This record gives sequence, structure tokens and C-alpha cells, in this order.
Amino acid sequence: MGKTATLGTESSNHQFPVVTGSVGPDVIDIRKLYAETGMFTYDPGFTSTASCESALTYIDGDEGVLLHRGYPIGQLAEQSSFMEVSYLLLNGELPSKDELAQFETTITRHTMLHEQLATFYRGFRRDGHPMAIMCGVVGALSAFYHDSTDISDPLHRKISSHRLIAKMPTIAAMAYKYSVGQPFVYPDNSLSYTGNFLRMTFGVPAEPYVVNPVVEKALDRIFILHADHEQNASTSTVRLAGSSGANPFACIAAGIACLWGPAHGGANEAALNMLHEIGTPDRIPHFIERAKDKNDPFRLMGFGHRVYKNYDPRATVMQQTVREVFDALKVNDPVFEVALQLEEMALNDPYFIEKKLFPNVDFYSGVILSAIGFPTTMFTVLFALARTVGWVAQWNEMISDPGQIGRAHV
Ligand code: ACO
Repeated sequence: MGKTATLGTESSNHQFPVVTGSVGPDVIDIRKLYAETGMFTYDPGFTSTASCESALTYIDGDEGVLLHRGYPIGQLAEQSSFMEVSYLLLNGELPSKDELAQFETTITRHTMLHEQLATFYRGFRRDGHPMAIMCGVVGALSAFYHDSTDISDPLHRKISSHRLIAKMPTIAAMAYKYSVGQPFVYPDNSLSYTGNFLRMTFGVPAEPYVVNPVVEKALDRIFILHADHEQNASTSTVRLAGSSGANPFACIAAGIACLWGPAHGGANEAALNMLHEIGTPDRIPHFIERAKDKNDPFRLMGFGHRVYKNYDPRATVMQQTVREVFDALKVNDPVFEVALQLEEMALNDPYFIEKKLFPNVDFYSGVILSAIGFPTTMFTVLFALARTVGWVAQWNEMISDPGQIGRAHV
């Protein structure tokens, strides 16, 4: 018999199986708790509860570890492309050269949108937030691609997954183009996934657009760093929406809506605003004192994380990427110097050491995206674009295993 855990109530003791994962702590399987004891557990923030079984992503917040299918995030960001990481998340292993070529061809062939969707955009106000447009357009995809919405058919699931990953850059770029009043730029399938997105966003039909390889690599890396992050709020939203049998386009639209919240996808914008507000390195000590003052609501944005109580492994990669982008674009923005010095000062301050507050992924990502030319309203859109593969992989994992369906009944 495997390991068990005993729960004692006032009148009796109950044994529950203990399940051991491939990494991380054991979990107590309490599915029979109510039947045996008449009691529920109470854990509204899921701080001690695993909501599902998943082979996709593992986080050890105390050690600052993030693994996708067993591979450390730092290694993936250094050695792989976003397309390779997407393949890894969807299929469980990194692709061979041929498998990658085949996957890239498949994704590339789905980059165009149904032409009628362009008309759909014109129904939005020009000053609408691009995340509002993303929610609307992605939700509407099921009205355009209903030939791939039978979720019981693995082929339909595969095609709709590919469509979502492939079309998201086109949808995001069009949301941007619409907001600045420029014509939509059609995809160019001779470019990489990320190069194509840059061209659709910053290119115009009147001139050729040359993709800057450093910017392309930096953005591709940002996409890798945001591709998946375990059972966070938006991923749990996608899973729960999917548990009712909703089609994948509707589920991803639900994920986008959840990601839009400032507590989830909005922190990089807040971090960038804070760095601008600080302005020059000599003002840093004043802001550090404010962050430590219990009577002041100010917090160091981009510092601290609910899960990571150590350096967020994604922040390390980001810091290196800022340097590359600033050098390549010859950006001379004091905001980077402020960020570097702020980080160093905070990491040496007893308050931040004691509370285990380290830079998170958002501390540097806003600085990079802004240097590339993205307005702050697009930051969360880019996050959604990158996270789509994680959402889709998690959704597929759940649908492929009926035991994983959440609360499917009303
Ligand atoms: N600046 C100053 N003090 C902080 C900060 C910060 N950034 N973060 C936490 N603290 C302090 C809190 O005041 C609290 O102090 P106390 O114990 O004396 O009351 C202690 O550290 C613990 O804080 P909690 O909010 O309880 O920690 P939690 O782990 O729940 O919070 C959170 C994590 C919400 C991310 C927090 O660190 C924060 O607000 N950070 C700034 C916002 C941010 O960068 N968010 C992005 C997260 S990454 C992402 O979503 C992709």
C-alpha cells in the first residue's frame, strides 16, 4: 500500500492516499473527504491546493526554479526559440530539426485571418483598449472557424490550437494598427513567428520593413519567458471555462479577460511608470524608504512575487536582454540605470532581504518593450500572445484526460 495521510475529526480518523509527483511536494488526495467525513476543505486562494494534475510546468518558488516539461527556463531562453518552446509545451519534448520545420510550416500557414474579421475591428472605437479588442476578436474566432470546434475530436483540437497560436500575433498587431489609425499589414510567411509580428506591428505598406535581429531575439525571448506559468489565475480560468465543454476560442478569450487585471498582467506597466517617476538614481533612496514605510501605500513595483521567494529566474534573463536591446537600438534612457541601481540597493537592504523580496519578471520587461517601441497599453497584449500556447497546452491536457474536468455541472 502506498503512503497515506490521516485526518482526525472529533469522532473518527480517516486515511487518505498520498500522491507523489515527479518533482515537488507530495499531495494528499482528498477527493473522498466529503463522502467520508461530511466536511469540505477551505482554501479560497488555492495556497495549499493542487487543482489538477499537470506535466507541463513546475515552479519551486523558494528555490527560484521554473521548469517546462523538465527543462529549466534559463536554458530554454538561451538555447531555444519560442516555436521550439511552443512545440515542447504542446508535445512534451523538444522537436528534432524536421519536427520543428514541420511545426513552423503548420503555424505559418495559419497566420492569416478570415478577411471579414477586418470589418469586425472597425466596429470598435479607435481609442478602445487593445485588450478589449483582443477579448472580442478572439472570442469571435469561433464564429469564423466553427469547423474546428468539436472538442471531442483530437484533430479539431489540434487545428484550433494551431490556429490560436498562429493567429494571435496577427490579431494583436491589428489591434495596435487600429489604435494608431494605420492600415493593417498582412502576415509575411517568409519571416519568423516573432519577426512577422514585429513587421505587422511596426511595418507600413508604403515601405519595406527590415527586422532587427537583436529586437527579434529579445522579443522571442520575452515570449518564451511568458509562455506558461503553471496554474495561475488566467490558466485556471481557461481550464475552468474548458471544463464546461466550451470551445477553445471562447476559453482563450476568457483567459485574456482574466489576464487583463492589473494584479496579473498589468504589473510591468506599473514597474515602468514607477521607474519613470523615480527618474534619476539620486531619488532612489527616497522611494526605497517610501516602500518600507507601512503608512505609505507605495510598493516597489516589479519586486516580490506570491510564489517566488527567491530571484525570479525570468528576471535574470530579462536583465541581460535589456542590455542587448539598449545597445542595439542605441537607446540612452536613464530608466535602465535607475532600474539597475534600484535593484542593487533593494537587494542589499535588510527590509527586502528579510521579506525575501526579489525582482520579478515584470521589473525589466516594461523597460525592454518600451525601448522596442510598444506603448504601455500593448504590454498585456504581448503577454496574452505569448501565454496563448500555455493556455492551449493546459486546455488540451485537461480535455485529453476526462478525469481532469473541473466542476462541469452547474
Ligand atoms: N515593496 C515593498 N514591500 C513589499 C513589496 C514591495 N514590492 N512586496 C511585498 N512587500 C511587503 C509587504 O508589505 C508585506 O510586509 P509585512 O509582512 O510587513 O506586512 C510583505 O512584504 C509580504 O507581502 P505580501 O503582499 O503579503 O506578499 P505576497 O507574496 O502576497 O505578495 C505581491 C506578492 C502581490 C506580488 C507583492 O510582492 C507586490 O505587491 N509586489 C509589487 C507588484 C508586482 O510587482 N506584481 C507583479 C507580480 S509578478 C506577476 O504577476 C507576473
